[in-house]
Amino acid sequence: MTVLIQNMLHEIEQLPDYEVFGRVTGVSGMLVEVGGAHGALSVGDRCALIARTGRRVPCEVVGFRAGCALLMAFTALEGIGLGCRAEVTESQPAIYPHPAWLGRVIDAFGEPVDGKGPLPKGDVPYAVRATPPSAHLRGRVKGKVDLGVRALNTFLTCCRGQRMGIFSGSGVGKSSLLAMMARHTRLDATVVGLIGERGREAREFLEDDLGPDGLARSVVVCATSDESPLMRRQAAHTAMAVAEFFRDTGRDILVLMDSITRFAMAQREISLSAGEPPASKGYTPSVFAELPKLLERAGPGAGGVGSITGLFTVLVEGDDMNEPISDAVRGILDGHVVLDRAIAERGRYPAINVLRSVSRTMPACNSVEENALVGRARRLMATYEDMAELIRLGAYRTGSNPEVDEAVHYSAPLEQFLAQAKTEATDLAAGYAALEQILSH
Ligand SMILES: Nc1ncnc2c1ncn2[C@@H]1O[C@H](COP(=O)(O)OP(=O)(O)O)[C@@H](O)[C@H]1O
Ligand SMILES: [Mg+2]
Repeated sequence: MTVLIQNMLHEIEQLPDYEVFGRVTGVSGMLVEVGGAHGALSVGDRCALIARTGRRVPCEVVGFRAGCALLMAFTALEGIGLGCRAEVTESQPAIYPHPAWLGRVIDAFGEPVDGKGPLPKGDVPYAVRATPPSAHLRGRVKGKVDLGVRALNTFLTCCRGQRMGIFSGSGVGKSSLLAMMARHTRLDATVVGLIGERGREAREFLEDDLGPDGLARSVVVCATSDESPLMRRQAAHTAMAVAEFFRDTGRDILVLMDSITRFAMAQREISLSAGEPPASKGYTPSVFAELPKLLERAGPGAGGVGSITGLFTVLVEGDDMNEPISDAVRGILDGHVVLDRAIAERGRYPAINVLRSVSRTMPACNSVEENALVGRARRLMATYEDMAELIRLGAYRTGSNPEVDEAVHYSAPLEQFLAQAKTEATDLAAGYAALEQILSH
């Protein structure tokens, strides 16, 4: 009860001293035109349309045209007609995170959606669309993160404050890999953003993958595919804002986001509706401007206080790694993990193609011995891959090249090393030890 009263007081404090409103002058598709208040509005502002039934429809200003503001709604537009009132509510949308949000599932507005009652609100507003700390103020990425996945811990070591992408076509295991990390990673807290995925998947993720223990140290921000593009886009930003709150308390945070592609698609829907012309593959220029604004929010905190390590999944359409979104995201992040359909079809999960993946910060955070060990394993795998076709065809004769013989010798144990069941966790030390063990035989 006290939480409710506190929240009410909080809402009252937020009320503006005076009210500005306009009127709906047109509705087309998902877009609402509002006249009369454009002097008080700018892009990104929050408004509420008052439907004829009295229902309030939250909206965001997405553009201006011919003297009118263009708004998009977060929820359905039923009941909105010409002349309906449009109240200006917030100019810098913010959420008020609180430590008690751990263990809860929230929507893009920071409201609980798990049926576990109201959420307490913190005192400090966190802008939903905050700008990332400037590069000069930020600490450097340092210290390894134990992701609990052998293949990543050894070959693609991730450091605190690093941002990595997980790339693959559909059904190759991105979400499953993310789920493994959600369960096995040992950092101070996890923020999971489920953006635009199927409702069934969100449920399965919470109940089967995360489980009660995982959920207890996580905040899950969820906007499923049936929700409006504004909800999906904002949910991604809300997840980052929650992570920033926990980072500012000096903690090391893991952000897992599934998926960045759905975030980009939401931005595409929004900007196409607002009349922006498409550029590459139907994606508008603003999609490519929005991506770094979201992804750059992960990273080390200013002054070395706390960090946000980010892992983001990217759906690669038609397994074409050069399609525009993958290409753009790969350029922004500090590393990419490529999942390979051919490997998944062989039945080896997680289907990470180590040779095509890279962690840009890894060489600097590893010891000389670790780099040497991983480098040797990589060379063996590369040699095997070059010859794999010939070996399979039986065209390679053992003994003709000692290097290839060595690669063949180690290929089965290395494959076995890379395979890992979803429920199995291994830590950093165990991963290196197992790799060393394999290569010393
Ligand atoms: N570690 C794993 N062990 C066994 N099967 C897996 C594993 N990872 C993925 N799979 C299989 O791959 C399927 C698709 O995985 P999913 O993570 O949903 O792919 P994506 O998110 O890339 O579309 C799963 O339903 C499961 O059958
Ligand atoms: Mg998925």
